[in-house]
Amino acid sequence: ELGDRLPTGFRIGTATSAFQIEGGARDGGRGESTWDAFTRQKGRILDGQNASVSTDHVGKLSEDVTLLRELGADIYRFSFAWPRLQPDGRGSLNRAGVAFYDRLLDELLGNGISPMATLHHWDTPVALRGQWLNRDTAQRFGDYANQMGEVFGDRIDAWVTVNEPATVTFNGYALGIHAPGETLLFDALPAAHHQLLGHGLAVQALRAADVRGQIGLANVHSPVQPATDREADRDAAALYDLLHNRLFADPVLLGRYPDPAGVFENELRFLHEIEPDDLRTIHQSLDFYGLNYYQPTRVAAGAGGPVSPDGSSPAMNRLPFHFEPFREHPVTGFGWPNAPEYLLVVLTELRDRYAEALPPVYITEGGASFPDRADRDGTVTDLARIDYLAEHLLAAVEAVAPGGPAEGVDLRGYIIWSLLDNFEWAAGYTQRFGLVYVDFTDPSRPRTPKQSFSWLQHVLSSR
Ligand code: FCB
Repeated sequence: ELGDRLPTGFRIGTATSAFQIEGGARDGGRGESTWDAFTRQKGRILDGQNASVSTDHVGKLSEDVTLLRELGADIYRFSFAWPRLQPDGRGSLNRAGVAFYDRLLDELLGNGISPMATLHHWDTPVALRGQWLNRDTAQRFGDYANQMGEVFGDRIDAWVTVNEPATVTFNGYALGIHAPGETLLFDALPAAHHQLLGHGLAVQALRAADVRGQIGLANVHSPVQPATDREADRDAAALYDLLHNRLFADPVLLGRYPDPAGVFENELRFLHEIEPDDLRTIHQSLDFYGLNYYQPTRVAAGAGGPVSPDGSSPAMNRLPFHFEPFREHPVTGFGWPNAPEYLLVVLTELRDRYAEALPPVYITEGGASFPDRADRDGTVTDLARIDYLAEHLLAAVEAVAPGGPAEGVDLRGYIIWSLLDNFEWAAGYTQRFGLVYVDFTDPSRPRTPKQSFSWLQHVLSSR
């Protein structure tokens, strides 16, 4: 029984993000985000859809909290929509936005669910000129964090400053497959630095507001392998590992940017022109480190293939590397390799690279999309998702168990992406990650718990 194999105190949760589930794009004076603007551009979203209604979480908040209570999970990870709280990205907080999250928090706490809140899950206010390319956005983010700490600091158990700054940098600013759609390649590095600086300023701001919850961030990690043993492939893999993993973990945990060691130094020179004070700001002591894990990556030298798991763009043809498939593993709906053994690898890498600098870890996201269908009687039989989650949960707890390869990592829990089927960014509604099925063709957006929901309910109650 899986429930018996989870260590005592190991916590399980589910996650969502504001832009992906809320809808209510025009409610209560909400401002516009980069993603609202992006989804209006032709050809950006695979199915041509937008998220102005999405799952209508703003209209169905109580129903969603009831689902959470029935599920019995310990933690609910959600995100605050910055444009709902600060429509222009500056100034005092918008009352209607605060009222919405007040209600959510009251309902969560009233039902015994522990809130973990993300301050930036990609929906940056468009009113902030240049968004993350502009250093001032980091200051604005620190200010927003401070006000949020003042208002919600008594009710949030865990704060995540930024979610996956790597994805925002590469998909949003380097490759143009996510908002705001820039194709700057290596010139996107300032967007990485400013998000990291924003993280550091937000940690300081939350501490200044004396919040009672724990503070961390969520980085996506992917174990990187060279496609062959050739030197060029090994260099390309090292570059990708640096860009995707170390660039975002090293400054946060070690207080420095990774050293390219003579390879691709010219492409990365921005990192070595950074003010040392910035690195001190970024290097804050954290209560936990959030790890998002979905898949490993195999990298080969030279352009000519995908370099993002989330889509493609012509800009990719100008990069010195590309991805190769993992033919030995089955894939999820997205075509991502389903490889729980690499969760072991990533936890081991974290321990080896960061040792004592690594705070307690939460896996803040993990999960899979599959082409789920609701049968005539309303059941959604998602056995592949059950296997995926069971295997990943076991891999995580085995990795860190005494004698395991990542022994020493203080792993506190696993948070499943996602509670609900939702707007999967550039893939629109074509990828379903939820434990709960949502019918997007019905204006009332009815929810149907999938079989994985009942399975998890059982795992949780049999602990
Ligand atoms: C992660 C994102 C999350 C969701 C999953 C599938 O990269 O943080 O919002 O889209 O991927």
